[in-house]
Amino acid sequence: MNSRYPGAAITGWGIALPDKIVTNADFAARLDTSHEWIVERTGIHERRHGGSTGSLAVEAGEVALAKAGVAASDIDLLILSTTTPDQAVPASSSAVNAQLGCAGAAFDLNAACAGFVYSIVTAVAMLGTGYERALVIGADTLSRITDQEDRTTAVLFADGAGAVVIEARDDRQLLLSHDLGVDGTLTSILYADHGGYIAMEGREVFRRAVRASVDSAVKVLEAAGVTADDIALFVPHQANQRIIDAAVQRLGLSPEKSAIVLDRTGNTSSGSMGIALAEAADEGRLHDGDLVLLSGFGAGMTWASAVLRWGS
Ligand code: ACO
Repeated sequence: MNSRYPGAAITGWGIALPDKIVTNADFAARLDTSHEWIVERTGIHERRHGGSTGSLAVEAGEVALAKAGVAASDIDLLILSTTTPDQAVPASSSAVNAQLGCAGAAFDLNAACAGFVYSIVTAVAMLGTGYERALVIGADTLSRITDQEDRTTAVLFADGAGAVVIEARDDRQLLLSHDLGVDGTLTSILYADHGGYIAMEGREVFRRAVRASVDSAVKVLEAAGVTADDIALFVPHQANQRIIDAAVQRLGLSPEKSAIVLDRTGNTSSGSMGIALAEAADEGRLHDGDLVLLSGFGAGMTWASAVLRWGS
């Protein structure tokens, strides 16, 4: 295939969310906030808390493998995108690899909420070096590093995982274009120290997020030689409905093309885009040949976009 990307296809996908639902009313009962404020400013109605990054990653990975009809032992590359590893050492992907029964290479990748797209691009690139089947999992347990008494962050961040199986395929071109970036001069607007809680300048993150996400999405549309009209599904990072709305409007996308899980999941960081993509696939919103635009941003500040061609 005449492309700078090796041929590949997404053949399976999966979601894992903890059982415990935390509603806006639960926060309003103990913090100075309200369901109305949270919905109007963020679009979030409820989110899930619980589990470990590893346990959620394993669950999402198992669903994705079953969907792909691929045995764990046939996965030769596992990339776990996470900002909240279960231990400082070793990487959480080690335990996830073992628990799933995978036997190949495995590593963690931390690019915050842009990590899922960073991981897809990394996996496809590595398929070009001879790996045959990659399992990419985005998993985070942000509730563990969020001060549940701080109304400015507690209502936003939550737990969850999304996974995809990507197989090398000579007859398929999954990745049409990508853009990965980071501006490390902006670390201070969103960070968590070891053992500490997330600190965020919300308004500044909002402003930068819209700009980074839109600029990056425009680049990948141009690089793929397509327009917003050609996109069948937009999978944005699920941080705030107003950020998504602003991006949709500036990109000239139809709002109904967006994959949205934010209202039920909150911001699950590395999990968010995998969950949204998998839900759209489960709902039958994706068809052979459809173009999918992924675009995310996160602490760093990182950003990442890609245009994918769906089809297995
Ligand atoms: N309930 C009620 N009031 C609140 C709440 C709350 N939960 N949170 C903040 N407020 C208050 C503030 O204290 C402030 O009060 P003040 O005017 O008395 O100081 C007022 O609401 C307005 O605050 P703003 O921060 O200006 O509100 P804004 O409309 O910007 O919304 C929000 C805040 C939702 C955080 C928004 O800025 C946002 O979504 N920013 C981006 C956050 C984001 O995407 N972070 C994730 C990045 S991805 C990653 O890597 C994890």
